[in-house]
Amino acid sequence: MARHLITSAIPYINGIKHLGNLVGSQLPADLFARYHRARGDEVLFLCATDEHGTPAELAAAKAGKPVAEYCAEMHEVQARIADGFRLSFDHFGRSSSPQNHALTQHFAGVLAERGMIREVTETQMYSPTDGRFLPDRYIEGTCPNCGFEDARGDQCDNCTKQLDPVELINPRSVISGATDLQMRETKHLYLCQSTMKEQLEQWIDTREGWPILTTSIAKKWLNDGDGLQDRGITRDLDWGIPVKKGDQDWPGMDGKVFYVWFDAPIEYIACAQEWVDAGKGTDWQRWWRTDKGASDVTYTQFMGKDNVPFHTLGFPATILGSGEPWKLVDYIKSFNYLNYDGGQFSTSRGRGVFMDQALEILPADYWRWWLLSHAPESSDSEFTWENFQTSVNKDLADVLGNFASRVTKFCRAKFGEQVPTGGSLGPREDQLIADLTARIREYETHMAHAEVRKSAAALRAAWVLGNEYLQEAAPWTTFKTDPEAAAAQIRLALNVIRLYAVISAPFIPDAAAQLLTALKSDDDSWPDDVAAALNTLPAGHAFEVPEVTFRKITDDERADWQTRFAGKRD
Ligand code: MF3
Ligand code: ZN
Repeated sequence: MARHLITSAIPYINGIKHLGNLVGSQLPADLFARYHRARGDEVLFLCATDEHGTPAELAAAKAGKPVAEYCAEMHEVQARIADGFRLSFDHFGRSSSPQNHALTQHFAGVLAERGMIREVTETQMYSPTDGRFLPDRYIEGTCPNCGFEDARGDQCDNCTKQLDPVELINPRSVISGATDLQMRETKHLYLCQSTMKEQLEQWIDTREGWPILTTSIAKKWLNDGDGLQDRGITRDLDWGIPVKKGDQDWPGMDGKVFYVWFDAPIEYIACAQEWVDAGKGTDWQRWWRTDKGASDVTYTQFMGKDNVPFHTLGFPATILGSGEPWKLVDYIKSFNYLNYDGGQFSTSRGRGVFMDQALEILPADYWRWWLLSHAPESSDSEFTWENFQTSVNKDLADVLGNFASRVTKFCRAKFGEQVPTGGSLGPREDQLIADLTARIREYETHMAHAEVRKSAAALRAAWVLGNEYLQEAAPWTTFKTDPEAAAAQIRLALNVIRLYAVISAPFIPDAAAQLLTALKSDDDSWPDDVAAALNTLPAGHAFEVPEVTFRKITDDERADWQTRFAGKRD
């Protein structure tokens, strides 16, 4: 049995994510996980909240809460919304877990023993106004690379360059806005990743079939000589994982914590331990240690493009540098950005649709379908309400929903609520089976490569085949002259609905489940043999006409939502 370890970039704890965040990591990861489970593979699908660092501290301060309490609450909020979108994590962990504390300190200890960590006395921005050192995100200023004025201390959102806060032009304190920042001496730990350049380059060069987006960003960082400078892995913050060597104190590092980007990817591993400790699994090492059975695991990571340097270089440097037999990622699937109605989604400005709001106006499947079928794979893509309305109304309501409803209603009217008996399949039916087979095989190929849009297109094409068949076979006409032939057509068509439910489930799990319930079938086995799968519901099998599977979005609703989400989140 194939075994798939799947992780989604772990979302920051600070606030509810927008649809652009969702489509860049969690949602396609869920599609992939659901698909592999449907194929009978063994899957471990993990995600968590990324709880350390300045974003968490700043958001807690803004909410007027102690940061631990804020994180616990926001974790619950994010978990509930993830459920709402049917994100099927085997475990949704927390980077602040005791497991991650221990494992992060373990990695630091091992890296130190192997001479991969050096202590550096450096000058850092100190803010007399705030009475503290200002780490990365507490400083904003102009990007030295592209001139963007609101670059953060750790990375420029405009050009994605990773930054050191001292490189910023006209730096200012995020806490107070103070510009009278001083340089003061303080000691920090650096991970010697520059010594690993060749090893990482060789590893990246030997990855086969990685998306161009992933390898091009990785190579850019390697070859700029930029991404592989030794990197500071400690910060002057209260909230975070205390700097230790394993369980030993680290002299001179009192009061410092690990940098969030050091501990966050380690949470991918710690999350598997949390999964076991929560009683959901029995053996996490089987997924993560190549000396304990993980060498036959295929590990796929999903993330937005801004995360690629940390996953192609930073985290592999931690893993390889440890010299321990941890599982390395096999495939990194990265995404461009989704824009919103002529601009960017913006968390800080509350622009666009946020995950909680989306579920308030429509069920998860509507969003899942649109987002996945328009995933920003080869380039950035854009959400517009017109496009959303068109896709939902056409693909979901007119094509899939209408097929299910016409077939079941016609059957109820002419043969009753059971699969009709009699008749046999002719050449037109054989043709449909052959066409469906071709589309499903194509769908499988795209899914195996995590080609999200192409998978959606193949699935939609499979739905269209059913409608075309129905139009041509016209059982309502056949029925008048040859009821037996019409019975055979409808028997096949009812089976096609079941087939659609099974193959569509990774995209639209609720609708798929609803259709299977209406067909009174619990057979959701994958159609390896499409002809056989279309014999699953036998003559005489009872069913019910499903409730409306997908409703249309009206012009009024569209206009209303467009206005409602244009401005600031309320
Ligand atoms: N929280 C980060 C973001 O949303 C992603 C962290 S991914 C991990 O951009 F690898 F660090 F876990
Ligand atoms: Zn920049």
